[in-house]
Amino acid sequence: MANSISALAMNREEVQHQLPKIQPGDCHLWRLSLEESEKGLARLTQYLSSEERKRAEHFLVPAPRLQYIVTRSALRLLLGSYLGIPCETIQFCLNQYGKPSLPPPLAQLRFNVSHSGKLALIAISKEVDVGVDIEHHRLLNDGPGLAKMILCQEDLDQWLELSPNDQFRAFYQAWTRKEAVAKALGYGLTLDFKHLRVSFTPTAQTQLINIEPNLGVAREWTLIDINAGDGYSAALAARTSKIKLMQYMLPPEFLYRTHVIA
Ligand SMILES: CC(C)(COP(=O)(O)OP(=O)(O)OC[C@H]1O[C@@H](n2cnc3c(N)ncnc32)[C@H](O)[C@@H]1OP(=O)(O)O)[C@@H](O)C(=O)NCCC(=O)NCCS
Repeated sequence: MANSISALAMNREEVQHQLPKIQPGDCHLWRLSLEESEKGLARLTQYLSSEERKRAEHFLVPAPRLQYIVTRSALRLLLGSYLGIPCETIQFCLNQYGKPSLPPPLAQLRFNVSHSGKLALIAISKEVDVGVDIEHHRLLNDGPGLAKMILCQEDLDQWLELSPNDQFRAFYQAWTRKEAVAKALGYGLTLDFKHLRVSFTPTAQTQLINIEPNLGVAREWTLIDINAGDGYSAALAARTSKIKLMQYMLPPEFLYRTHVIA
């Protein structure tokens, strides 16, 4: 498996004028901070469709509302830049489990997003289905109960043998790796995670071990842990045995560049 992983921070001009070119088999992973002011949110909301604005209004708690508005507007701005079209003209299709995608003839550009705590990840690829998941660590009130919900008996037995610290880390690694695969497939949390086996012990190489036969073959997938910083676990899954992953920080200025709003 040959994955080239590079990280760089781009300044405003670079993002505006040199958004990296994406080739078939590439995956660009954009990381963005979700710190935002009310004034900033009002500006970003202008990029959203009327349905998206309605959804934003329905959040009763400020934090998830902020996560949604910032991530969705950043997604629109990035996709608009890759496609060379105004971001507010983009229309998303949803599968029956709610996964958004671009309609034909733009559907070659695939994407998936995840947000948690103060961070969001936006994965953009060409001709390859991708899924991404980030989780902000929270104390596990009932670790064994949660592990039992997502691990098959053999994996649960292995997890129970780990030290409490390793159990904590392994739980989040198993969770994010499984959710990334489930999101690449488009099923999200409707998939039974017990039937999706991933490595999770501290010494094991990151790997999709087994997937239900009707969903594909494990060796035809790539699973990569993403270093999102202290207090987070994250993973990216791609439905291909070989992907070139490049990681970028999205500068806050990118969200506020001069942009024509219809
Ligand atoms: C969607 C879901 C995967 C989100 O999980 P989460 O850990 O809370 O959230 P994340 O931040 O990782 O991902 C959210 C993003 O994933 C994307 N997404 C939504 N549904 C998805 C799916 N089925 N597969 C992959 N990605 C999906 C969206 O872009 C979403 O962003 P948004 O909430 O800003 O619109 C989870 O709630 C789920 O599986 N729900 C199933 C919903 C369902 O059955 N819906 C039926 C009809 S809509």
